[in-house]
Amino acid sequence: MIIAIDGPAASGKGTVARALARHYALPYLDTGLLYRAVAVSLLDNQGDSSRESDALSACDFADSLLSDSRLRNEQTGKLASEISVFPKVRQALIKRQRDFAAQTGGAVLDGRDIGTVIVPDADVKLFITASPEIRAKRRYDELVKNNPDLTYDIILEDIKSRDLRDSSRKEAPLKQAEDADLLDSSLLGIDMAIERAVALVEKQLKTV
Ligand code: DC
Repeated sequence: MIIAIDGPAASGKGTVARALARHYALPYLDTGLLYRAVAVSLLDNQGDSSRESDALSACDFADSLLSDSRLRNEQTGKLASEISVFPKVRQALIKRQRDFAAQTGGAVLDGRDIGTVIVPDADVKLFITASPEIRAKRRYDELVKNNPDLTYDIILEDIKSRDLRDSSRKEAPLKQAEDADLLDSSLLGIDMAIERAVALVEKQLKTV
């Protein structure tokens, strides 16, 4: 069983995807980490993020980079969004994602284009979102502990510009697949969001 989960930054998709992976005992891939690794690899190579050829060279990163703590910070997320507009970068990361999805028994993948491009024939597709204000608040609460200078407004602007860039790019933009169920997590706590997600998965499995 392949479960494809898409949605914007800080929508709760990672939390839900991890919980579904545990619930159904499936391996989980956070595909955003691949784009983040390209971003960090580009910085390490002193590449120019506006050049597709530099970003493409950065796709050749070592697996060990995937556990680098720099992958988690906000600047990396922004740079990942910038380099993810390049078709050659997206192409370079496709095989890795499809190989992961093709494992015996299935997998859970989350990202922006999983249900539309990476595994369009996934058994289950969810699109998880929440209002930009709520996503910014969640991100702010999570980050402010270690970055006391951060403001909610900066995070909100960042979320909005990331949404715009991710959903307006030509290649594989962030969008809900036609056959995906929408889960708006704005007014839901984590447990409730997971419960709803499991119910949607069960519903989709019954209709195949
Ligand atoms: O999910 P995330 O915040 O870790 O993703 C970082 C950026 O990577 C996101 O803003 C756009 C890009 N990305 C993508 O283009 N396609 C994916 N499947 C996952 C992430």
